[in-house]
Amino acid sequence: MKKVLVSYFSRTGKTQQMAEYIAEGIRISGNEVELRKISDIKNEKELTGYDGFVFGAPTYHRAMPGPVETFLFLAQKAGLQGKVGGAFGSYTHSGDAPKMIFDTMEFVYKMNVVDLGSFNLLEHLVDTREGMKSCHDYGKAISEKLGA
Ligand SMILES: Cc1cc2nc3c(=O)[nH]c(=O)nc-3n(C[C@H](O)[C@H](O)[C@H](O)COP(=O)(O)O)c2cc1C
Repeated sequence: MKKVLVSYFSRTGKTQQMAEYIAEGIRISGNEVELRKISDIKNEKELTGYDGFVFGAPTYHRAMPGPVETFLFLAQKAGLQGKVGGAFGSYTHSGDAPKMIFDTMEFVYKMNVVDLGSFNLLEHLVDTREGMKSCHDYGKAISEKLGA
């Protein structure tokens, strides 16, 4: 069994809901998950002991929220090279943040990113059965990448 950290920022709860469903998808497919708010992680040492990382952020003003940007600098110091990575977020029209995070994971941290790419979910779908299923599927794809 592998261990995954799902860490997210969410202002109005949509990306948080996605994080919970993605965590379920990882658990259903046989791996252990920890779910943490980005704001609760103060030190890069808190990113040790995981085989995979899934970071979540909504898009505001065509960008990732400031605390997520700061978090990515912290994560840079954690030595995530070769670890499995994925990124997700809720959005309404442009959904820039998950792709930015995903690119940072792939090109800066040199992580083993999930084949599906980054995962954007339209806000109005988050609380639907379809939305829940697509989050579960993303979690399962993370598990597949981990070789579970
Ligand atoms: C002031 C403001 C700016 C926003 N800017 C964008 C944007 O540039 N692109 C986009 O796709 N969604 C944008 N959104 C929509 C949010 O991404 C969307 O409401 C998302 O579901 C919020 O997720 P959260 O509940 O996890 O915070 C914006 C929302 C607000 C209130």
